[in-house]
Amino acid sequence: MSNSRVVVIDHHAPALQSAFCDYVPRVFRTVDFKRWREWGEWTDDYRAFGVIEDGRVVANASVMRMCLRVEGRDVIGYQLGAVGCVPERRGHGLARVAMEAAMEALGDAPVILFANKTVLDFYPRFGFAPRAQCLFGVDHEVTPSADPAPTLELADPAIRQGLLTLASTGTPVTERFGARLHARIASWYAAANFARPLRQLREDAWVFASVEDGVLHIDDVFATEVFDLRPYLGRLVTEPVKQLQFGFTPERWWPDARVLEEDAEADLFVRGLSLPTGPDRFPVMART
Ligand SMILES: CC(C)(COP(=O)(O)OP(=O)(O)OC[C@H]1O[C@@H](n2cnc3c(N)ncnc32)[C@H](O)[C@@H]1OP(=O)(O)O)[C@@H](O)C(=O)NCCC(=O)NCCS
Repeated sequence: MSNSRVVVIDHHAPALQSAFCDYVPRVFRTVDFKRWREWGEWTDDYRAFGVIEDGRVVANASVMRMCLRVEGRDVIGYQLGAVGCVPERRGHGLARVAMEAAMEALGDAPVILFANKTVLDFYPRFGFAPRAQCLFGVDHEVTPSADPAPTLELADPAIRQGLLTLASTGTPVTERFGARLHARIASWYAAANFARPLRQLREDAWVFASVEDGVLHIDDVFATEVFDLRPYLGRLVTEPVKQLQFGFTPERWWPDARVLEEDAEADLFVRGLSLPTGPDRFPVMART
């Protein structure tokens, strides 16, 4: 349509941010950016490339600037998210316009994204290649401790600041293929009510973790150093569990963990980034 145009929506553009927040649930029914924005978590690192028609965002490709971690090195790169087009405007090249605007802005920088089963043939049109992801776990008995780890609420600004500080002073959860400084992605999951509870395992170690179907899932660890988790795990359960699963490659936190299977739910695509060949799991709390 002739009256459509692409705009860059950043945190200096409140009216456009609102238009973006209205767009998101029109494409992704259960997803919401409003609370995350209200929390002040939308910073310069997040830009949306929105196609606007009559003041509304009808298609979009968002870009999060990331400090990726690949084989022990920092790599500045980007992660795409919220890519879509409102149902009534699909099939007119609008998502392509948004994607091309985003990709042009990123040049040759490394870009990753997590897709879904309906768009597996979409991203290769833009130079992306799929890459397998794995699930990691270990059989390990954990019995409840008398001293449960406090739950921390990211709705509290002081807790958000605490997570940011731990992320900036802390140690990467994995050195293989992951991210650093992703507190504002983790907080997005909390704002949208998709996160496991944040628990204070130690003063300097906060974990997103909970028990599901008898398995203790540790989705992320924000900590100043790597330490032996075993004496602390009882603080995260109220009933005995026999298995752990990790939301990241656990080579640092649990070297004996094994690959359980390929992660059939994670549709990772990569462009301009060479990755180690071994199995890995990009941290679930660093995905956009
Ligand atoms: C997938 C989606 C973004 C496509 O939007 P759209 O505006 O209809 O796409 P476009 O018209 O710009 O199509 C661009 C190209 O991709 C192709 N394409 C469109 N949808 C596709 C799909 N689901 N799978 C594969 N290719 C697709 C088009 O044929 C077109 O090809 P070409 O330009 O190379 O000839 C849209 O259907 C959508 O919002 N889906 C739901 C949200 C979603 O799943 N987003 C992805 C999140 S990871």
